[in-house]
Amino acid sequence: MQIVTTIVELRGLLDSARSEGRTVGVVPTMGALHPGHAALVDRAAAECDTVAVTVFVNPLQFAAGEDLDSYPRDLDGDVQVAGDHGADLVFAPSETEMYPAGRDRVLSEVRVALLSDGMEGAQRPTHFAGVCTVVAKLFNIVGPANAYFGEKDFQQLTIIRRMVDDLSFPVTVVGCPTVRETDGLAMSSRNVRLSPDHRAQAPVLAASLADGAAAFADGERSADALVRIVEDRLADAPDGQVDYVAVVDPATLEPVGVVDRSSRLVLAVRFGGTRLLDNAALGDPPRLAGGSVS
Ligand code: PAF
Repeated sequence: MQIVTTIVELRGLLDSARSEGRTVGVVPTMGALHPGHAALVDRAAAECDTVAVTVFVNPLQFAAGEDLDSYPRDLDGDVQVAGDHGADLVFAPSETEMYPAGRDRVLSEVRVALLSDGMEGAQRPTHFAGVCTVVAKLFNIVGPANAYFGEKDFQQLTIIRRMVDDLSFPVTVVGCPTVRETDGLAMSSRNVRLSPDHRAQAPVLAASLADGAAAFADGERSADALVRIVEDRLADAPDGQVDYVAVVDPATLEPVGVVDRSSRLVLAVRFGGTRLLDNAALGDPPRLAGGSVS
């Protein structure tokens, strides 16, 4: 297990791996690895010969006033998790290595129009351009055959798939199921910021998705009706402030009127200063080890 901090060293190592016929997989992260990330590394290790985990808290995807400075950082812990789950190396560049001219002087940007404007993009208008720019850069640095992303950030996954298609990156994007706590809360590096009281209320997100999926299974096909069912359940959390609940087409992210199995139920709820996201396909509700969330 190697820790690499420079682009030139990483390229050298991965060029040698490829010249030996090894397929390279990448798991891009901002660190603070939790079991959700570990599942991505497990999948990458099962499907690729050489696995690189990137750890870089990307300033381009944080707007002024967001939590860039307080974003959780734990490189030693990340290296441990990545190694335990079969990664061959961790790429942990400095900000200067990634943006030598300075974060405010990056003049090239990758932006996926339309898909980046709604949902998270409505709250964070510059966020996805920052994500796409760094992911494009990481793809160019790593040259992976496969790249692994969690479905928890469903809009991000959809946008990255579209970027790869539109710009013909020779990369297969692999979306991996959301990993959940035993009470259904989707794992996220930001969950540690929840107060005990808010943590106790947070499983309502997964429960509301399960209610929506159950209504779909019972024959409900109206998106408006499903949104109301989800909102009713979210109201059980006294401190949860709902940012949005929507049923969208999984490829265009456009709201749908009439739903089908693949329609994606997406939501964002704020508890204090912490915003939680979750989503599920209506035909594939969130499940725990012991069964569905109830
Ligand atoms: O999902 C994340 O952790 C980040 O948005 C990503 C994809 C690593 C880009 O910085």
